[in-house]
Amino acid sequence: MNDTKGKLRGRDLIVTQEWSREELLDALDLAVRMKQDRLGFTHVLKDRTFFMFFYNPSVRTRQSFECAATELGGHAQFLEPKSMRLKTAKTAGETVEDAAKVMSRYACGIGVRILEDKCSRYGEGDELLREYAKWAEVPIVSMAHDKFHPCQGLADVMGWTEWLGPKGKFDPDILKGRKLLMAWGHGALARSWCSVQEAMLIGSRLGMDITVAAPEGYDLDPEVIDWTNRNCKTHGARFEQTHDLTAGYKGAHVVYSRNWMSPGAYRDGEFRRQEEVEKALKHADWICDADKMALTDNAIFTHPMPIDRGHEVTDDVASGPRSCIYDVAENRLHVQKAVMALTMETP
Ligand code: CP
Repeated sequence: MNDTKGKLRGRDLIVTQEWSREELLDALDLAVRMKQDRLGFTHVLKDRTFFMFFYNPSVRTRQSFECAATELGGHAQFLEPKSMRLKTAKTAGETVEDAAKVMSRYACGIGVRILEDKCSRYGEGDELLREYAKWAEVPIVSMAHDKFHPCQGLADVMGWTEWLGPKGKFDPDILKGRKLLMAWGHGALARSWCSVQEAMLIGSRLGMDITVAAPEGYDLDPEVIDWTNRNCKTHGARFEQTHDLTAGYKGAHVVYSRNWMSPGAYRDGEFRRQEEVEKALKHADWICDADKMALTDNAIFTHPMPIDRGHEVTDDVASGPRSCIYDVAENRLHVQKAVMALTMETP
């Protein structure tokens, strides 16, 4: 195959920030080639199995990983913690060390999804992935956890590049100097920080100006804000945070409107979903609509999906001519094929 000369083989993907810019571009380049030649890579994981370990439900992630494994000649197996007798804080069972070591004897890679409501505090999901990564002898891939969603981030920037660049030519440099607005949206789902944080990180690595617009009390992880700020400085881009949603829209090229939880979402070791939803629904004006999109520089609308229509964004924008949501969703398949090929293919 390509290109990266095997340097990604065996690597975990927990956050894009831990891959170099060159490695991310290699993955995107391969994803583009895989999209153009959909069934041209069926030898890559021939007869191999990828384990998908889901603590939370999914539409896109499960389906796209299953299709990805099939299209690489292998198979993806769905696993749930309830069928695995794992040790938890409250119950006896098998340790992550034992599970990861045994799973590594069977599979070419292990994906894990664990979101906010399966954690007792922010960061616990990230720690679980890193515990798997410590013991597993095969790559660990985040399929979305409480802090990051790297496959979503790769699919996002692939989609934005396709929409903002010239037809038929894929050049991620097209994103340099473009303004990405990360707009908090009110909603009934109390969502994790993983997708928005990943988009900020990878967008800033590709030179995008980043604006985060959120009501007071909806700050994201300070460490991720700091990384984004530093990425922007390194790549000659601007970073700003505002509570003024209208100002945020001005001049934007990509609008990402999504709900996210407040930093106070956990109390006494529990994720307080209902309280978060009640608090968020008070901000009814925090919605992406056509009037706000008219303030942008002909921006595209993006969202990782599932969308909370009528809260995060109006139907006419989500289904409108500048919405790239279905292309981004499709790209999950292509970027995951690329990631699996680069990290899991046997020489
Ligand atoms: N974007 C995303 O991860 O979608 P699912 O939750 O449906 O997998």
